[in-house]
Amino acid sequence: MQLLDGKFLSAQIKQEIAAEVAQIREQGGKIPHLVAILVGTNGASETYVASKMKNCEEVGMKSTLIRFEPTVTEAELLAAVQEVNDNPDMDGLIVQLPLPGHINPDRIMETIAPAKDVDGFHPINIGRMAKGLPAYVSATPQGVLEMLKRYNIETSGKHCVVVGRSQIVGLPMSILMQRNTYPGNCTVTLTHSRTTNLAEICRTADILVAALGKPEFVTGDMVKEGAVVIDVGLERVPDASKKSGFALKGDVKFDEVAPKTSYITPVPGGVGLMTICSLMQNTLKAARGEVY
Ligand code: GUN
Repeated sequence: MQLLDGKFLSAQIKQEIAAEVAQIREQGGKIPHLVAILVGTNGASETYVASKMKNCEEVGMKSTLIRFEPTVTEAELLAAVQEVNDNPDMDGLIVQLPLPGHINPDRIMETIAPAKDVDGFHPINIGRMAKGLPAYVSATPQGVLEMLKRYNIETSGKHCVVVGRSQIVGLPMSILMQRNTYPGNCTVTLTHSRTTNLAEICRTADILVAALGKPEFVTGDMVKEGAVVIDVGLERVPDASKKSGFALKGDVKFDEVAPKTSYITPVPGGVGLMTICSLMQNTLKAARGEVY
């Protein structure tokens, strides 16, 4: 069993991004600028956004956080998105999800200019990704691909089982893994909460991607000997022994599953760190006008 070390890889990628930003600065070019919109005070969202901003600063990019009260109207939020769209200094925009119930996330996503949609959530980017055209790809699936690539993991002809059909992870992951480029060329099964015989299907996976958001759902008996297991889950589980009051758990019961695998991602220290790198890579592309 080998760990897919997100800590090591993300540090390497951050160095690469920092070197590119430094070069842009030396040549007097446009410093990449990421803008995040955060509504309300959801603890996990606060942590994620703060980490995204901090990482941008660390590689020398500009970052701006725009905060709104949870009572913000949809019209106010749409106006803020439009302002970022129209500001040539701002290259990438993310609106952190989830949003309060009175705001339609699809309407917000569809208002972000596709050329600034570094989260890859706009239907144009999802459609272009599905067609294999240049597009912004959702950060987490892109981070998983980067991991497979940097560990030279063979994917062609393999059976990839994705558990979870979210718009952000499961669905794009399944599309990316079946494309005819590396990493890809898999036979893909996309499973979800209505799938019958889920454990049986998981046991046929050469590459198992767990992205359903249920702590330690994937147990040892659901994994084939020698499989590659990618754990996208990151849930806060109450734990009185921790200072924060919670422990972070993935979707995979690591201790049971790890000994059976050829490669596995730890949580934390796996996919999560790759996600932020993907977002910064996309912001760099946006500043350079590489996608559109
Ligand atoms: N909420 C959970 N994951 C994400 C993400 O990748 N981007 C945004 N904008 N919100 C999220």
